[in-house]
Amino acid sequence: MQPATAIAHPNLAFIKYWGNRDDTLRLPSNGSISMTLAGLETRTRVVFDPSLKSDELSINAEPASDPALERVRQVLGLVRGMAGLSSYAHVESENNFPTGTGIASSASAFAALALASTNAAGLDLTEADLSRLARHGSGSACRSVPGGFVEWEAGSGDQDSFAVSIAPPDHWDLVDCIAVVGTEPKSTGSSQGNMLAGTSPLQAARVEDAPRRLEICRNAILKRDFEALAEIVELDSNLLHAVMMTSRPALFYWKPATLAVMQAVRQARSAGMPICYTLDAGPNVHVITPLTEANQVTGLLHDLLGVQDVLKATVGGPARLA
Ligand code: PMV
Repeated sequence: MQPATAIAHPNLAFIKYWGNRDDTLRLPSNGSISMTLAGLETRTRVVFDPSLKSDELSINAEPASDPALERVRQVLGLVRGMAGLSSYAHVESENNFPTGTGIASSASAFAALALASTNAAGLDLTEADLSRLARHGSGSACRSVPGGFVEWEAGSGDQDSFAVSIAPPDHWDLVDCIAVVGTEPKSTGSSQGNMLAGTSPLQAARVEDAPRRLEICRNAILKRDFEALAEIVELDSNLLHAVMMTSRPALFYWKPATLAVMQAVRQARSAGMPICYTLDAGPNVHVITPLTEANQVTGLLHDLLGVQDVLKATVGGPARLA
């Protein structure tokens, strides 16, 4: 069979996914909205080979084992089912961005895997079906299939829980300036963390208020209203981390420098700069600003104590075949 190679970008959630209604199907407790990150990418090559005795995976040229391999097997199993194939596959995946920097590599990885594996199996899926497939590997991966500004509707079940683009990449020239304050691997990954969300007494309130935040965020994007976006993005990130810190066991992802960056961002916004922060399951701070301010923001972040590096990403396109 012919090999296929696909490229996908990670994404940064403005309204976060955290907690599942169904852990196996990764049906989220609430909808989410993200920006696809250009420049950063995962490139994945898949070939189904009748001579293989099991699925094989390498990440950045190193053989990978469980749990990554197990999650890849699950997605490949679904693809085999759809294509009526019995062969195992050899998968090679490479990221052009450093791992452990708080950039969700699982999102770009499973989006690229969904596209490359279906193509290698001779299938031609719609964007919605690819997004559903990617969701099985990592929830946020469904948002790395479409490009630009993307919304994942929670949906009512497996069939209608997928992501769509709500605005193309050139709609709004925002930049994600990522202040790297730590690169050691996190003790609790987001897949595991997602399963703890329900143990926080704050999660129910976070989920109940999500439709309101989603609407404000969606409208802010459509109207390119930075002030409205900044307020809702920071509120949503604070809610996420309040849930994390109050789950059992408690998850604390921040380092002292994380808080220093958050404070500097809030101060700069009070002084009139269009800037806001958001954090995922890690200590690094994603600082959002319009392209016109990106150099100034990068300079500001570099000058803060504890900031090791600043990566920059503009708004990216959909997953594509190479
Ligand atoms: O898709 P997962 O299991 O890697 O979870 C992603 C969770 C967050 O990054 C914290 C939020 C999000 O919506 O991306």
